[in-house]
Amino acid sequence: MDKFVIKPDDALHGSVVVSGAKNAVLPILAACLLTEESCEIQNVPALTDVEEMITLLEGFGAAVSFDRTGEVMNIQAGQLNSMQADVEAAGKMRASFLTAGPLLARYRQVRIPLPGGCQIGTRPVDLHIKGFLLLGASQKQEYGMVELWSKSELRGKNVYLDFPSVGATENIMMAATLARGTTVIENAAAEPEICDLADFLRKMGADVQGDGTDTIVIHGKKKLHGAVHRVIPDRIEAGTFMVAAAITGGDVLLEQVQTEHLKPVIAKLAECNVKTEQTEQGLRIYRKGRLRPMHLKTMPFPGFPTDMQALFMSLAAVAKGTSVITETVFENRFLHAGELRRMGADIKIDSRCAVIEGVDTLTGASVRATDLRAGAALILSALAAKGDTEISDIYHIERGYYHIEEKLRNLGADIRRENS
Ligand code: EPZ
Repeated sequence: MDKFVIKPDDALHGSVVVSGAKNAVLPILAACLLTEESCEIQNVPALTDVEEMITLLEGFGAAVSFDRTGEVMNIQAGQLNSMQADVEAAGKMRASFLTAGPLLARYRQVRIPLPGGCQIGTRPVDLHIKGFLLLGASQKQEYGMVELWSKSELRGKNVYLDFPSVGATENIMMAATLARGTTVIENAAAEPEICDLADFLRKMGADVQGDGTDTIVIHGKKKLHGAVHRVIPDRIEAGTFMVAAAITGGDVLLEQVQTEHLKPVIAKLAECNVKTEQTEQGLRIYRKGRLRPMHLKTMPFPGFPTDMQALFMSLAAVAKGTSVITETVFENRFLHAGELRRMGADIKIDSRCAVIEGVDTLTGASVRATDLRAGAALILSALAAKGDTEISDIYHIERGYYHIEEKLRNLGADIRRENS
């Protein structure tokens, strides 16, 4: 298994191009199952999660061609030959469950593994299934699989989500595009990735309105057609490089970023004495003076994104003073705290609240990536630490960051991959 070896270095400087958004491209690839016509998706990063999604789509019988250099993928889900998900691929990636809505809508049946929990929480799919049942489907759960079917076409319905779940909003929205009648999703998630999926569905001929608000209205259609779509930039990768600039006291320019998706991150960085400036080339991030501590509470969009929480804990660990971070979205998303403590961080956890006393500097150590964003947070801490750091289990990081070590090296970081 590979590991990253990181030597602390001077402040990061230079420009970095932000890749396509993992959490937008995964539902969009699943949405290609809604039509028999060919779809072209652009700005697709060759992440391991994207490779898993390709395996899944091909397992259903779709034809997929992926120009990894040009980051363009073509998917043609003409006549699928299986409604059974590739169990191994589906088991590796929770987002595989996003194929349920499209297959149920188009083929009125699907058999797919129940996504397991992961490090950050149990992550049930009860809200997805509640929506499918309201649209007229039946379900059977056994042996870790869920079978969904509908004797006739799905019927539009009002669905109220107990929690503004991103995945449930996406799955129900996709299923509703081919249902008969109108579906209203209330208390819907409003993340930018929801809007990007809705944009793609509209290009396919779907009638979707209200995405980006808490109420989404879908008027079902008989069929959808193929479309061409360019995926939005990844706001969490962008936020990761913003924190990398902040933690090293550097000056970095983000290219191909949508600033409006980063408002909560920009606002929180400003509280920490980190400046951002919109230029013609992109978004510039630089620090003026000492990092200040922060009070941070993760919330569904437009609140502060839970995916940025670990990265800001790395920042708080070296911000002089007391920071308080509250994680309201996932029940177990502080696993990075134990690894940061090994680097000298002073962090106390009480249920969903973390109190961090900033220290002058962290020290390098051998640490382990426990999940995708936790791994990224350890890289950032290592960049600003005293002494070398080794990070193992970096497969977590590669799920969501495309060529992160090359991008950081281009900014002046001393990071290399080694076989461990
Ligand atoms: C998406 O996960 C993202 N993944 C996550 O990004 C992100 O952290 C999360 O949204 C929140 O923004 C993708 O888009 C592929 P949720 P998702 O459904 O859809 C509970 C990353 O690092 N819940 O909004 O699974 C759930 O347990 C990943 O890129 C139910 O109770 O998130 C959690 O506590 C991590 N029942 C909360 O809602 C359900 O049926 C938020 O989950 C569904 C969710």
